[in-house]
Formats: sequence, structure tokens, C-alpha cells
Amino acid sequence: MSNRVCELLDIEHPILQGGMTWVSDASLAAAVSNGGGLGIIGAGAMPADLLRQEIAAARKLTSRPFGVNLIMINPEFEQQMEVVLAEAPPVVTLGAVKSTAVIPGMKARGIKVLPVVAAVAIARRAEQQGADAIIAEGSESGGHIGETTTMVLTPLVARSVSIPVIAAGGIADGAGVVAAFALGAEGVQLGTRFVVAEECTVHPDVKEKFLKAGDRATAVTARCIGYPVRAIKNRLAGVYDEWERKYLAGQCSAMDVENLGLGKLREAMRDGDTKEGSMMAGQSVALVEKAQPAAAIIAELVSEAESLAAELPSRLSLRR
Ligand SMILES: Cc1cc2nc3c(=O)[nH]c(=O)nc-3n(C[C@H](O)[C@H](O)[C@H](O)COP(=O)(O)O)c2cc1C
Repeated sequence: MSNRVCELLDIEHPILQGGMTWVSDASLAAAVSNGGGLGIIGAGAMPADLLRQEIAAARKLTSRPFGVNLIMINPEFEQQMEVVLAEAPPVVTLGAVKSTAVIPGMKARGIKVLPVVAAVAIARRAEQQGADAIIAEGSESGGHIGETTTMVLTPLVARSVSIPVIAAGGIADGAGVVAAFALGAEGVQLGTRFVVAEECTVHPDVKEKFLKAGDRATAVTARCIGYPVRAIKNRLAGVYDEWERKYLAGQCSAMDVENLGLGKLREAMRDGDTKEGSMMAGQSVALVEKAQPAAAIIAELVSEAESLAAELPSRLSLRR
């Protein structure tokens, strides 16, 4: 499994752990990087000082490349960007891309820049601005999502850009990895499966919910205001239902609906409120069966994908 993504990011396996707010701190990111993938610190709404500390902690825990994920619509974004330009982590992934103009400044500092996109037009623009690779994130993903599935988005983006494409959303095992490569990706990004990694510091009650979740465990909230978020169903999803009905009846504003999520991810992931907090998770949560060290997750993905790829010629019988 050696390819353009491995060469670009200087990693052993083309497997990225997606940046996850309140979930992927230096502990998880370093464990993934030590396992031969690329671990990514989710900066989320972290104050700039905390982000600086997390980058320093990751540098102590691993000598391998790691990344930082920034969300461009975050109020802390400008200050976080100053930290990133000063500290120059090897890789930055950019969520909620509202402008690609920030890319050249990071590139000038030697940072590899990978925007996370849910639509072809942004992928094209990012490539023109010098992005090193594109993370195409399908709507099976956990967290804030677009509308197009990984199955459709990955080939569309792969046909539209010449830089490598990394598929995200719905991938949690070797079969998902092989499928992503068949669709034109040269790497994969997983979020949900890494939430249960032993080095992930989220509340144990959340990990338990992830391990027990089945195929109908997640729901998408706030779609009606154009801000869809996928999370495990709980009382919060019921609250959203009620307010979304009010919004559609003209009885409250889009901001009222959006504000329902304020602080809720932290309440779930850090404080363990699995009833009213937001347990963002992808549909692939149903495929997550056991807690393992991050390095074991990566090793398993690679070995499953390799054996499946070897079996495929005999399985792929499309003619009599
Ligand atoms: C709990 C959680 C939090 C997330 N937070 C972020 C984030 O802060 N920034 C971001 O770009 N993506 C975020 N994501 C998306 C992941 O980085 C990744 O792309 C996605 O989880 C891949 O799909 P999967 O969940 O099917 O593995 C989050 C996902 C989860 C599950």
C-alpha cells in the first residue's frame, strides 16, 4: 500500500484519522501517527493557547508527521491560524471551507494543506489555490455533513482534480478501504472508528454507545436550515425534531435551531452526557465492534484490505 498519499504525507499507510472536535486530541493523533497513519488534532473551538499546547504535546508523543484540523467558520479561526503559521505542523486539514485564499500562506510555511470538501466545485477551487490533496467527505460521515454520499462524491471529485483524493465517510473496515480505492481514492479518512480507540480520551459512556450502535443508530438533524449534522439518536434528536417543526411552521428562526447544538458535543464527548449531548457519529458506527489501540485499528484495516484485494479477481465474476 504505497502510493501518492503516503509519499505526500510521509506516512506508511494512506489512512488518516479525521480531525474531531472534543475527540481527537494529541493523545489519539500521536497514537495514529505512531501506528503508521496520519493522526489529526481537532482544533474545533480550542483557544489558540490550548492549540499550541496540543501541538507541543503531539510533538512529544510522536516523531512522525501529524496534522491539525481547523474549521474555517469557527470564531477562533483567525487566532488558530496564527498558531498554525507559527508552529507549522506538517499537515493542516480545513473543514467548512468558505475560502481557499488561506492555502498559499500555509504552503509558504511548508505545511501540506488538505481541504475537506463535500462538493466538486470547492475541490476544483482548492486545487487551483495549491491544495496538496482533497478529502472528499460523503454524507455517511459523522458530524457536519454535505448531501452527496461517498459512493458518488469520491469518483466525481477524483475525475475533477489531478491531486490525490482521500475518501471519507462510511469507511470503517478493509472492505470500505478497497471500495474507496475502487472509486478513485488514493487514501481514506476515518473518524467514527477511531472514537473507540484506546488512546481516544472521550468519556467511556460514549464509547459504550458507539460499540452498541446498530444500523439505524444515527440521525441527521438541522437539515431544514441547511446545517445538517449526523449523530447518534438520543433525546437531543427529539428536541431538534420539535424545533425543526416549529421552524418549518415559521414559529422560530434558523438561528434558534442552530443554537440547540451549542456546547452539546462537549457535553457528550467530555462529560459523558449521552442523553442530551451530541454524540456525533457516522453511519459506520454500526460496523464498529471493538475497542482497540489505534495502531491495531490501522494494522487490521491494512490486512483486511490486502486480503480482500487479493480475493477480488475471483469474486469479480461479471460474466457467466
Ligand atoms: C465526533 C466527530 C467529530 C468531528 N469533528 C470534526 C471537526 O471538528 N472537523 C472536521 O473537519 N470534521 C469533523 N468530523 C468528521 C471527521 O473528521 C471525518 O471526516 C468523518 O468522521 C469520516 O466519516 P466517518 O465518521 O464515517 O468515519 C467529526 C466526526 C466525528 C464522528
